[in-house]
Amino acid sequence: MSSPTAQPSHPADHERQAAQIVARLSTADKASLTTGADFWHTAAITDAGVASVMLTDGPHGIRKQRGDVDALGINDSVPAVCFPPAVAMASSFDPELIERVGDALGRECLAEDVSVILGPGVNIKRSLLGGRNFEYLSEDPHLTGRIGAALIRGIQQHGVGTSVKHFAVNNQEHERLRVSADVDPRPLHEIYLRAFEHIVATARPWTVMASYNKINGVYATESSWLLTETLRRRWGFDGLVVSDWMAVDNRVAALAAGVDLEMPSSGDLGPAAVREAIADGDLSSEVLDDAASRVVALALAAEANRVSGATYDREAHHRLAREVARRCAVLLKNDPVGGEALLPLGHGARVAVIGEFARTPRFQGGGSSKINPFRLDAALDEMQAIADDGAISFAPGFVVGATESDPDLHDTAVATAAGAEIAVVFLGLGDDDESEGFDRSSWTLPEPQLALLRAVLAVNPRTVVVLSNGGVVDLAEIDEAPAVLESWLLGQAGGGAVAELLYGLADPSGRLAETIPHRIEDSPAFLDFPGEQLHVRYGEGVFVGYRWYDARRIPVRYPFGHGLSYTTFDFGDLEVSATGDALRVQVRVTNTGRRAGRAVGQVYVGLDSSRVARPPRELKAIGVADLEPGGTTVLDLDIPESELAYWDRDLDDWVVEAGRYRVEVGASSRDIRVRTTVDVDGDGAGRAIRLGRSATVGEVLEHPTAGPVVRSAVAATMGVEDLDPTMLMLVSSFPIRRVAPMLGLDDERLRDLLN
Ligand code: BGC
Repeated sequence: MSSPTAQPSHPADHERQAAQIVARLSTADKASLTTGADFWHTAAITDAGVASVMLTDGPHGIRKQRGDVDALGINDSVPAVCFPPAVAMASSFDPELIERVGDALGRECLAEDVSVILGPGVNIKRSLLGGRNFEYLSEDPHLTGRIGAALIRGIQQHGVGTSVKHFAVNNQEHERLRVSADVDPRPLHEIYLRAFEHIVATARPWTVMASYNKINGVYATESSWLLTETLRRRWGFDGLVVSDWMAVDNRVAALAAGVDLEMPSSGDLGPAAVREAIADGDLSSEVLDDAASRVVALALAAEANRVSGATYDREAHHRLAREVARRCAVLLKNDPVGGEALLPLGHGARVAVIGEFARTPRFQGGGSSKINPFRLDAALDEMQAIADDGAISFAPGFVVGATESDPDLHDTAVATAAGAEIAVVFLGLGDDDESEGFDRSSWTLPEPQLALLRAVLAVNPRTVVVLSNGGVVDLAEIDEAPAVLESWLLGQAGGGAVAELLYGLADPSGRLAETIPHRIEDSPAFLDFPGEQLHVRYGEGVFVGYRWYDARRIPVRYPFGHGLSYTTFDFGDLEVSATGDALRVQVRVTNTGRRAGRAVGQVYVGLDSSRVARPPRELKAIGVADLEPGGTTVLDLDIPESELAYWDRDLDDWVVEAGRYRVEVGASSRDIRVRTTVDVDGDGAGRAIRLGRSATVGEVLEHPTAGPVVRSAVAATMGVEDLDPTMLMLVSSFPIRRVAPMLGLDDERLRDLLN
């Protein structure tokens, strides 16, 4: 087994050498480097010492296509370890744990000679119906950024690259290659770009993948604003931009905008267009040189980090996959029945395990992220291994994917449930219900499964539901059961994890990374998804996920951050201080129950006096603590002040406003246990705003420096002691330039005052 390369090199370390190599290449060679050699490899130029690099899908395992199968055959990849997909990973609320997944993936890549793994996907879950929601982390950019960065750090410590995707605003599958995501500057920066920005700044991904869609009318692959101005110049990205597979519409425009590498190969189409554009003077040779250099730098880094004969410990990774899965399942409810909660199950309890998913796990979603697991654990076997002999009976109850009940399966399952002390019913979505390539058309579980649950509950109210689904499902009927474990999609070792959680060998500690509403009609993008006539309007603005439900005070079924444990926690003694650069948050957490468990502290911040419409609260820090019964600890968390910023569309930049910020610590976004306020000076940027000649009278007078000066100058000009308040209210929305004559100010005097 290999250990992390001491100091793996990053492609940017090879910039100079790459530029020297490229300087000696012909235009044709350079152009050929900027498109793939085939479906998964970059082009080699052997004479110049440039090797080919393999990029492979992921990101919850490696999907390495064997050379001898067709490039699109998604089921025939090299067997690997299938870790819990992104939907589950985020529910761990535990970046350190996810960094360990990255560590394992890095080792697997080295062993398989894969230089770049295509992930993680960090698009925000905008709609419940998004077809790839199982591949994305959360509705919240803070959580997304932290988990995404952790995965990347874990992988890249081995000298294996990542490709953070899909950059950007690719929040749906419907018309994903043609649709324009029409989004305002604030949501664009505060919600949709924020996780990418954090990841670029803190985890330095080797590559970023430009998405299929358009943003405000411009293809992501052709947006120099996105790829060059924002990503490279503003954020300081020093890696390579690769297109999503076949996302390039116009190779020359994409190269000019910042797509260094077009994937997969477009034959000679791309290179020919580039050669012609260079010859015609339509594309600068520096742009081509830079792009080719980045491809060469990637190849040099990959070569430098390659470990021959690398291996990895599959069994250890399987165990890790199980540990992670245990941390990701979310116990939504565990109500007492007859005075006692159903979970955890007693080893001797006579349990009827119902539902095909118990025997045939649904453990990942469909499409390019589909891993070929080397082993697959089923919950049924794992429960049988834990429970006393003969304690478990099983009935499949339904056929996965069927739209009509099978009467025999249904009736047998109901009879099995009726004869048991407790029924554990495994329900979920099938492979055909959610996949890359299409959005979901409904959020309800198939009717045969719901009918089965109704019938089971009628004969045995002591029923636990275990769900397997990648996207949020309607829980209206599920919630009739007294206990519900949302196990998402848990990867190849999920069966064992679920069994351990059900029997209490492990404490549930997953928390919801997305809100589960009562009605889909309540959800933020309901009226604006998936758009029409190739445009999707992000009408909810920054009010995505819990930001929306909170602002509109809409009751939800289970809030963002919710998740029960078999024990209970108390939060107290909240102290927050502003250090100048950061808010230091300290909060005491105590395990008040009778079992060991994990507390997940969530810190939310809000600013009621903001000059822009802000969500009531936004997640800004998370901290976990494993506590024995009665155990107590202080979570010590830092929130950089830059995290408090909003995006100012006039300044085209972030602004940290001065003000009294609310800091709330809770067990979920709707279970705030302690709160306080802290005064923040702000970065001063906001004060400089809008004091040009088109600033309004109100803005000028409110300005802390300019206001008093202008006020007394105008009063003096008008020969009064102070300005008449009614008159001021009347003119406060007028640009000061237009009312200047009325206030006795000529143009020159106004300019002097504003200066
Ligand atoms: C997907 C990417 C994936 C690529 C290569 C595309 O269709 O959007 O996520 O990495 O294919 O399989």
